[in-house]
Amino acid sequence: MPTLLFKSAVDSGPDWQRALQAAMPELAVRVWPDVGDPEEIEYALIWTPIGDVLHSLPNLKIVFSLGAGVDHLLREDGLRRDVPIVRMVDPALTEGMSEYLLYHVLRYHRRMPDYAAQQGQRRWRQLPQVVARERRIGIMGLGVMGADAAGKLAALDFTVAGWSRTPKSLAGIRCFHGESQLQDFLHGTEILICLLPLTPQTRAIINRQTLAALPRGAYIINVARGAHVDEEDLLTALDAGHIAGATLDVFADEPLPGDHRLWTHPAVTVTPHIASLTNPGTAAAHIVANIRRHRRGEPLSDVVDWERGY
Ligand code: NAP
Ligand code: GLV
Repeated sequence: MPTLLFKSAVDSGPDWQRALQAAMPELAVRVWPDVGDPEEIEYALIWTPIGDVLHSLPNLKIVFSLGAGVDHLLREDGLRRDVPIVRMVDPALTEGMSEYLLYHVLRYHRRMPDYAAQQGQRRWRQLPQVVARERRIGIMGLGVMGADAAGKLAALDFTVAGWSRTPKSLAGIRCFHGESQLQDFLHGTEILICLLPLTPQTRAIINRQTLAALPRGAYIINVARGAHVDEEDLLTALDAGHIAGATLDVFADEPLPGDHRLWTHPAVTVTPHIASLTNPGTAAAHIVANIRRHRRGEPLSDVVDWERGY
């Protein structure tokens, strides 16, 4: 009987057990620490390994990541290089991310933070308004989530550009790639969205220099990883008014410490890493599809490339 071990920091084991067994009734799901016979476990579904749990499973064939991003997983000592890692790719996770981004882009585009500030002063003033096609959105990362958000923003008529590592061709999107095209991409971006994986190349990519390359009054939306942003550089650019506002869902230190200045900065919106949450009810299908592929001897989808780091 195929057997999977589930391990997460949050208490969602029973939900995953139900969802996985509904999608694949013949799959046995054990919730850590109830490992049972370690020899029977071929699959693990985890957020981070925490300790050497994976090393104690002699017949492990696939590690499934609960998250789309795997930077934290790849940093863990307990991970095994001899077992493929499959990251989370789920249409509902992608849709959730695009919803969050559409909401915050529209909020900035229609100047809702300015109107909220005016309301606080009982001030009645109509601010200049531009149409969507005159608003330039730039998305760092044109992968599963970046491409979906780009398409949906373009469908609303925004002028959308994207930046990726390798060249891309996406209908209606101006595509930039590589370090040599980063400056041009940033110069034309009024609302910058970060949807990159965290790798040595992308760590602190939103910093003093890249912020300075954006036009004055630009906005930042970071939904990727906190370490993509140099938080001190961002605060300096916000205080100087070069950056008009930032929506941050992810932070270098999570939970964001209570005394961090980002909590109270008037131009910053903080959300607690909820831009899109993995939902067992929809994500189980992705895991089960890969287990079935593995059992048929077919190639797996969405396998992490250790060398690229995503
Ligand atoms: P993905 O499909 O792997 O896409 C990554 C994109 O980033 C690709 O277009 C890739 O370029 C590009 N990229 C990687 N390294 C680059 C570099 N050095 N320079 C320029 N572009 C680079 O990832 P995804 O599924 O869209 O997810 C993106 C990230 O979102 C995840 O890694 C995770 O951190 C974050 N996330 C956050 C939440 C949340 O709730 N806040 C939820 C889910 C995911 P190529 O196409 O050329 O490879
Ligand atoms: C969440 O941050 C994820 O990577 O899925």
